[in-house]
Amino acid sequence: MGTTADDAAVPWWQDAVFYQVYVRSFADSDGDGVGDLEGIRSRLGYLELLGVDALWLTPFYRSPMADHGYDVADPRDVDPLFGDLAAFDRLVADAHGHGIRVTVDLVPNHTSDQHPWFQAALRGGPERARYHFRPGRGPGGEQPPNNWTSVFGGPAWTRTPDGSWYLHLFAPEQPDLNWDDADVRADLVRTLRFWLDRGVDGFRIDVAHGMAKAPGLPDLDPAVVPVLTGAHAHPAADPRFDNDEVHDVHRMIRQVVDRHPGAVTIGEIWVETDERFARYVRPDELHLGFNFALATTAFDADSVRRAVERSVAAVGAGTPTWTLSNHDVERHVTRYGGGEVGLRRARAMALVELALPGVAFLYNGEELGLPNADLPEWALQDPIFERTGGAERGRDGCRVPLPWEGPPPTYGFSPGDKSWLPMPPEWAAHTVESQLEDPGSMLSLYRHAIELRKTSEAFAGTELEWYGAPPGCFAFRRKGGGLICALNTSDAPVPLPPGTTLLASGPLDGEELPPETAAWLV
Ligand code: GLC
Repeated sequence: MGTTADDAAVPWWQDAVFYQVYVRSFADSDGDGVGDLEGIRSRLGYLELLGVDALWLTPFYRSPMADHGYDVADPRDVDPLFGDLAAFDRLVADAHGHGIRVTVDLVPNHTSDQHPWFQAALRGGPERARYHFRPGRGPGGEQPPNNWTSVFGGPAWTRTPDGSWYLHLFAPEQPDLNWDDADVRADLVRTLRFWLDRGVDGFRIDVAHGMAKAPGLPDLDPAVVPVLTGAHAHPAADPRFDNDEVHDVHRMIRQVVDRHPGAVTIGEIWVETDERFARYVRPDELHLGFNFALATTAFDADSVRRAVERSVAAVGAGTPTWTLSNHDVERHVTRYGGGEVGLRRARAMALVELALPGVAFLYNGEELGLPNADLPEWALQDPIFERTGGAERGRDGCRVPLPWEGPPPTYGFSPGDKSWLPMPPEWAAHTVESQLEDPGSMLSLYRHAIELRKTSEAFAGTELEWYGAPPGCFAFRRKGGGLICALNTSDAPVPLPPGTTLLASGPLDGEELPPETAAWLV
């Protein structure tokens, strides 16, 4: 996709709708029960119909799949499970032909334990310097070098046969790289160029608040750093994350990416304060930061308003981003209460998200109103389940493959009858096929909303103006174009702001906005 001088002034991503493809779960072309690149290519028509501007593909690189691809053994090749480089090139070319840009995941914090570097390190080679190996503490070095815990549960250190320990902030199969090492940095530059030269439009950067560790790897203070598992914000006092040296890495990435006009970087940033967040999106660092404010806020107008105002303030002159769900958190239909209630609230929040200035990130399946699946224990695969001894079920419930058409067990996800996670028997009502022609479906709501967002002048401008609103409600107006978005999270109907209704998340009651409903007006 070409970039003109005009594009450079207003980058294409500034108000883009991104769609996260969890590659394992989107569409399976070869019948092995796991989604793949050809599967995505075969569904590009659907993505064009939905109206999204860009894809974020989760990792499809060579990997033993201990963390479903976030354990990368070769960052510059496609895992045979997902296809090959030729399939990737076809996907990018065809996506561009459909007017859809393609961004890919980058996993710089760690590699797979099967990466040739780590294997050589275990054999005692100089590659050890690229990881964090340390002697243990206590008699015989039997205690880990410090008290750090893994985000997936248990200690962040694993002992090797020679008696030394290596650091892994995630699973033991994901040893952390040492970012003080010049080879580590040079290799990331190679990876960036490799995919940019193949035509990608940017990168989502995994654990962008990771990489740099506090000098000397000091113990963490359990009074300040709570032991939490999974996706959550890390306080500045956490020596494992958000250390100042990480910003050098982002500056280095930016320099490479800037040689490819139009390419964008989006960091996954789990930090506690807006001030710390803002540091990642300084002009010479990331273009965008994932903002989990909406994904962690209850369905309550005051809380949502505060989350929006804070998020906008945090990026200053930069571009805010919005996310309701991703592959690490519970799907928001379920988070909002599940069933009809969850769906109604999710519909309302889709209109809030898509009315806001900035970039929206949709997670595949949210446009179908998918809830989290309640999976049987035997099916669970997320390392979090095992590493917490079953105390936490992990993230599989939000990663179940997408239902496309036809009957169970795979609803057109796969030509065969296998899917890597079982698909619930009650998902027939969620298939694309059953929603496509139904004007009241979640899919129709998303299509309509995205189309209006793209074509209506009312979405111009980035500044918001808030109206006075009854308790449990809010209304904001996009100052430039005049779009009004009203949300009612209370249990009573309230008067609609004056104007002509463009779209509503549920049936309106005359001049009233019913409970758990949002509307767009001009
Ligand atoms: C990020 C990913 C998550 C993965 C982890 C380790 O948080 O989003 O899925 O497990 O990093 O790579």
